[in-house]
Amino acid sequence: MADPPLLTIDALHTYFRRGTETIYAVNGVSFTVLPGEAVGVVGESGSGKSVTMLSLLGLVRGRVTVRVAQAQFKSWDLTRLSRRQLEDVRGRDIGVVFQDPMTSLNPVMRVGDQVMEAMLAHQYAPPQAAFRRTLDLFREVGIPDGAARFRAYPHEFSGGMRQRIMLAVAIACEPELLIADEPTTALDVTVQMQILSVLQALRSRRRMSVVMITHDFGVATNFCDRILVLYAGRVVESAAVTDFLARPAHPYTRGLKGSILEIGSRGRSLTPIAGSPPTLTAPPTACTFAPRCPFAVPQCAEELPQLRTLSAGHQVACHRAEEVLDHVG
Ligand SMILES: Nc1ncnc2c1ncn2[C@@H]1O[C@H](COP(=O)(O)OP(=O)(O)OP(=O)(O)O)[C@@H](O)[C@H]1O
Ligand code: SF4
Ligand SMILES: [Mg+2]
Repeated sequence: MADPPLLTIDALHTYFRRGTETIYAVNGVSFTVLPGEAVGVVGESGSGKSVTMLSLLGLVRGRVTVRVAQAQFKSWDLTRLSRRQLEDVRGRDIGVVFQDPMTSLNPVMRVGDQVMEAMLAHQYAPPQAAFRRTLDLFREVGIPDGAARFRAYPHEFSGGMRQRIMLAVAIACEPELLIADEPTTALDVTVQMQILSVLQALRSRRRMSVVMITHDFGVATNFCDRILVLYAGRVVESAAVTDFLARPAHPYTRGLKGSILEIGSRGRSLTPIAGSPPTLTAPPTACTFAPRCPFAVPQCAEELPQLRTLSAGHQVACHRAEEVLDHVG
């Protein structure tokens, strides 16, 4: 029998109040992550990738409402954990790499202490072992001369180096799940490969699962098993990488794939499809992609397409997915 999912998120909604407006940032996102699985999360800027992950970790700030039908990680119902319990799970069982390293590293604490603290706070290792492991982690993530750099502060490092320190903090306790928001974005290709091989090794050694948010389709399709495509705060397609590349069934995914071929795998902040994403000031009641969609029919402007299963492991939220699949070109 297949293993149960490590993480199950069902119908996550996140709304922000901004002045008199409400921003419907996440509108019913559901997904699972299996033990050992790497899930890539892609979508244009503002599609809700970061807010989805921050919401399930209890980390969204501001005037915000988060609603979710189910948020299960292992045996824990994340919605029922106290702030303290959630903090304990985060960092020990779920490692997190945030999109902006400067907001998550403590500017007045030496970087070595920050990595060590991650282990000490969760009783992962006693001080001597934590110190040795910190030096090992620095070497693994590509921070040269770790013993000397241990006592430096975050502002003494470049952006790419800070990103590696964040990663060292996130994997220090060998979490079962790593949620990484653009973890290799500021890094050159060589270091990116080095970091991905560290993660790959952790995946095989610990059967660590990864949720990787990335604009880099090369990273997503090479590293991950499955891709989730987000559009306007909803999952529009979930597919194994092979299906994502060979049989994209949502017109938006097709557009993304076209943009990969045109711009190359490292195209960043691209606008792959003519038009712009919708403003999210009302909850969606129809297909939010319709104004940009070459396949749109009147039904699309009237009825919200639900995520449905096309074939094993392949789900799509489009009224016309079968025709999209049949369409050549
Ligand atoms: N604290 C906040 N207050 C109000 N609106 C917010 C807040 N955080 C995010 N949003 C809005 O929520 C929507 C989703 O944002 P999110 O950061 O999840 O996008 P993203 O997909 O991660 O984009 P990017 O690729 O640029 O990182 C956006 O419209 C954003 O402006
Ligand atoms: S539901 Fe209609 S508008 Fe939306 S993606 Fe599918 S065909 Fe296009
Ligand atoms: Mg983001």
